[in-house]
Amino acid sequence: MYVNVPWRGPDRAGRPLELREADRRDAARYLEHIALIVAETPFMLQGPEDALPDIGEEKDILEEYARRVNCVCIVAARPGPPPGKQPILGSVTLIGGRGKRTAHAADLSMGVNRVGWGRGVGGLLLDAALTWARESPILTRVSLSVYSENRVATALYRSRGFVEEGVLRRYAKWEGRYDDLIGMGISVGGAGD
Ligand SMILES: CC(C)(COP(=O)(O)OP(=O)(O)OC[C@H]1O[C@@H](n2cnc3c(N)ncnc32)[C@H](O)[C@@H]1OP(=O)(O)O)[C@@H](O)C(=O)NCCC(=O)NCCS
Repeated sequence: MYVNVPWRGPDRAGRPLELREADRRDAARYLEHIALIVAETPFMLQGPEDALPDIGEEKDILEEYARRVNCVCIVAARPGPPPGKQPILGSVTLIGGRGKRTAHAADLSMGVNRVGWGRGVGGLLLDAALTWARESPILTRVSLSVYSENRVATALYRSRGFVEEGVLRRYAKWEGRYDDLIGMGISVGGAGD
């Protein structure tokens, strides 16, 4: 499904939702969202024990994504408060390669606060990121890696056309246990294809 941002509509539970590109004013709220999801789920590569950027650094990171033509950070939030005051419910980030040889390929990472799961927010965010990638004049590929045990996310990615490309064995280690990641990719066409 094509989802162009900014987007407004109801989530699957009928509550108003908006998707938009993040900007530097979102830094503090974005960090709160990331701190929450890394504590709520074991399925992020980052853990709650890892340091997050400070607010100033995060402002610079969000500004860099907004500036670079092969990067974007899209956030989902309840409409009403202005950016900066609006709690972030979910996010998806595409980070394209910096060099000429990888500028066409972006890595995707995403998460939704547990309170918002199962209401279509993750699906909308993924659709919005893929729509953005398809409309990019540069990107022709989106890649991601997902824990092999993360059935919900793996099914979500497959449903949007991602294909499993390989296994990164024992890539992650937490609480003394190794986990495999599945590498997935999708072609998003574009001028370079
Ligand atoms: C994976 C994640 C982003 C999905 O977000 P979400 O808002 O719950 O997703 P949606 O409500 O849009 O559901 C996505 C799909 O998963 C299915 N689904 C959702 N929750 C499910 C559950 N508990 N069991 C089985 N299927 C489920 C839905 O049916 C939906 O499929 P559909 O679009 O074909 O109907 C969210 O669970 C999350 O943030 N998890 C923790 C972090 C994470 O795993 N990030 C991905 C790292 S690679």
